[in-house]
Amino acid sequence: MDNAPNLDERIEQLVTLHEEDVEMLIPMMQDLQTECGYLPAPHLRRLARRLKVSLARVYQVATFYASFRLMPKGEHTVTLCMGTVCYLKGADKIAEALQRELQMKPGETSPDGKFTFAPVNCLGACALAPVMIVDKEYFGHLTPDTAVSILRRIASGEAVAGEERAGGPTSPEPMPKAASNDSRRRPSRPRKTDPASTNDHGTQQAKT
Ligand code: FES
Repeated sequence: MDNAPNLDERIEQLVTLHEEDVEMLIPMMQDLQTECGYLPAPHLRRLARRLKVSLARVYQVATFYASFRLMPKGEHTVTLCMGTVCYLKGADKIAEALQRELQMKPGETSPDGKFTFAPVNCLGACALAPVMIVDKEYFGHLTPDTAVSILRRIASGEAVAGEERAGGPTSPEPMPKAASNDSRRRPSRPRKTDPASTNDHGTQQAKT
């Protein structure tokens, strides 16, 4: 017999664990994502109702942070650099080609569940610009055509070798979704403001 808590029970446990504190909305959402792999819509609706906050506010948080996913993660993660060097060498055109090919926006998973598209600010491999990582393989000196071709080969199950990374070690810096959703604009640094501290009209609440 399955003793797993149902949705209502699980949300109740989560909210109780965080002492029913609305300010803990982000940690609650992080817990949910760790558990489910993404943020399912019924869970977000139930969480909003339980905390007595608007669903719009919950989605505002979920869509602001690139680390939150509203869809299950794909089989492969495509991390495309939109940093300055890559951008100047055509990363925006590559992003457009990938979005057309995979029918998804930044942060989304392709309809066939194969790829999740995650633009970032700099991969620390500028000598390979423009560059993307698929899972752990680096692919440099890309054009829109070569990037699409690499993903087609991976989707067909072909083992595609990347290249040695030329930069120093670094972690990809996720872009806020507000910037990454429009690949035609120059990317900006992540905002410091926390949308959880804004009210339902999107304006900042004074901290007391
Ligand atoms: S700007 Fe793309 S790797 Fe540095």
